Amino acid sequence: MKELNTIWMNGKLVPWKDATIHVLSHVVHYGSSFFEGIRSYNTEKGPAVLALTEHMERLTHSTRIYRTESPYSVAELCTAAIDTIKSNGLKGCYIRPVIYRGFGELGVNPLTCPIDTMIAVWEWGAYLGEDSLKNGVDVQVSSWTRITSNTLPGLSKAGGGYLNAQLAKIDSVQNGYADAIMLDNNQMVSEGSGANLFFVKNGVIYTPGMGSSILVGITRNIVMRIAEDLGYKVEETTIPRGFIYTADEIFYTGTAIEVTPIRSVDKVKIGTGSFPVTMKIQEKFFDIIHKGNDPYKLLTFF
Ligand SMILES: Cc1ncc(COP(=O)(O)O)c(C=O)c1O
Repeated sequence: MKELNTIWMNGKLVPWKDATIHVLSHVVHYGSSFFEGIRSYNTEKGPAVLALTEHMERLTHSTRIYRTESPYSVAELCTAAIDTIKSNGLKGCYIRPVIYRGFGELGVNPLTCPIDTMIAVWEWGAYLGEDSLKNGVDVQVSSWTRITSNTLPGLSKAGGGYLNAQLAKIDSVQNGYADAIMLDNNQMVSEGSGANLFFVKNGVIYTPGMGSSILVGITRNIVMRIAEDLGYKVEETTIPRGFIYTADEIFYTGTAIEVTPIRSVDKVKIGTGSFPVTMKIQEKFFDIIHKGNDPYKLLTFF
């Protein structure tokens, strides 16, 4: 990662190299962090952050589940993110806010530790490579089960939960795949290691709902609106494993992965190997993030 100028920490922009924490911080030992992944794009109409408020709202909801109230309001977090981008002279970039339990007492109980906040930005291209957006990726169904409601609630984007995602990711990469599809504790389709899933079958679009242990993705919400505006019926439903192999198209959505087709699962080719519906949706999504055409008012220009 290329070193930049500053990182925002607890209300101040500090030099990149000084943005450090104590090794006895609670987060280092017990995974007590809550984060977001947000993207800014250098659109044809100027630089803009996609769904900034929605992401900061989700961040404050993630913390609330773990009784870690955000010290900053959603509006303050949005302003801080823009200040951090500007201070680093970037236009298109990735934005990573984290709220975490810092240095205080050390034991499982986080409530005695301070709540710290940081926002970093860095330059970032296509998550799985430019080719993946056009030609799709090959994935496997993971042997690891996705975290579930009453163990690690998936609705909180909590650092500790990503140990589960790491198991799935490591396994898939070591097996030669780009990523994994994770099943929930009822063996129903949940999501990727860091992305939501959509299935196209006979012109209808299906996606697992909140009850399938998903993180309710912000790109997922945008894509559902795009798909409906294109005239597709979108159904949130439980999806059994077998449906994967019989779908006409499958695609991932996420801030990092954007709208990426899946061309095979467990070495089974999906549909005919082309992704017309996925590409129509991807094109509309790219209209927003690249051209700055924003019918849903999702861009914050700066
Ligand atoms: C586990 C998980 N699911 C889904 C998503 C997609 O969410 P979003 O579209 O808000 O980036 C992400 C990425 O943040 C994720 O980490």
